Amino acid sequence: MATTRGLVSRRFELKPTEFRRIRQLIHGWAGIRMDDTKDALVFSRLAPHLRRLGLATFAQYLDVVAKDATERDTMVSSLTTHETSFFRDADAFAALRETVLAALRARRPSTGVQPRHVRVWCAAASDGQEAYSVAMLLHAELSPEAGWTHEVLATDISTKCVRHTQAGVYASAGNVPRAFAAQYLVSRAGGVQVGPILRSIVRATVHNLVHDALPPGSPFDLILCRNALIYLSAESRSVAQAKLVSALRPGGYLLLGRAESVGGWAHVRATRYLSLGVRQT
Ligand SMILES: C[S@@+](CC[C@H](N)C(=O)[O-])C[C@H]1O[C@@H](n2cnc3c(N)ncnc32)[C@H](O)[C@@H]1O
Repeated sequence: MATTRGLVSRRFELKPTEFRRIRQLIHGWAGIRMDDTKDALVFSRLAPHLRRLGLATFAQYLDVVAKDATERDTMVSSLTTHETSFFRDADAFAALRETVLAALRARRPSTGVQPRHVRVWCAAASDGQEAYSVAMLLHAELSPEAGWTHEVLATDISTKCVRHTQAGVYASAGNVPRAFAAQYLVSRAGGVQVGPILRSIVRATVHNLVHDALPPGSPFDLILCRNALIYLSAESRSVAQAKLVSALRPGGYLLLGRAESVGGWAHVRATRYLSLGVRQT
């Protein structure tokens, strides 16, 4: 024990070759691009895992990660950005309400489409607040009393994020409008938990945008993929873009992040830019 404590209390060294290997692995697994300046970030995010595992070097850590899928998942989770919140970017939710929900309301029966059933995919959804925000909006605006039913699929590459979504427990209601919080969230010690209505709408599962086939439930009426594509390399982004577009129902909508350009999609399929970050195929 004394030996282990001695080893793990030493400051680790991340050698340039080890950094390059980690960068290669994260690109191979998640499609994420890391430039040369990210070595300090890699060090600070992974050093706690070396300590937890009682390892002395990054070389040993790389051996563990190569053999253990759970550690690999932890590494991907540690090196990705998971920032999110309820109703993140108010103007995106306004665009959803004004453009997408309005179009869904106007939808008429056609082959293979139940006009009052809405399917949404929140891709790269992090801890789930985005998916629950969409579910609140859908349930409030397209109500079951008027015959509407909804399904929201929340996916992320990180198992930790998916488990958090499934638990649906958050430190605060953040930007959730008060009336929505009263209807859809339950207060509990230290925060809030999603209530039964949201649980019945949202399902969460692990999905890798670069390597996995389309998720169950395709095609979707609406896909959100916000603040994730910006972290991918050009080649991985192109693969993910093609997947997102082929998971959309013809006439469906794709909502991108505020910082994500609407350019660069022409190679996938002609798309029409509607308003901030909202595109229709
Ligand atoms: C910054 S969060 C965005 C969360 C949410 N969409 C939002 O805008 O608030 C980016 C998420 O993308 C996920 N991610 C990164 N690479 C991914 C990949 N290849 N496939 C699926 N998810 C990925 C990360 O795990 C992270 O949770």
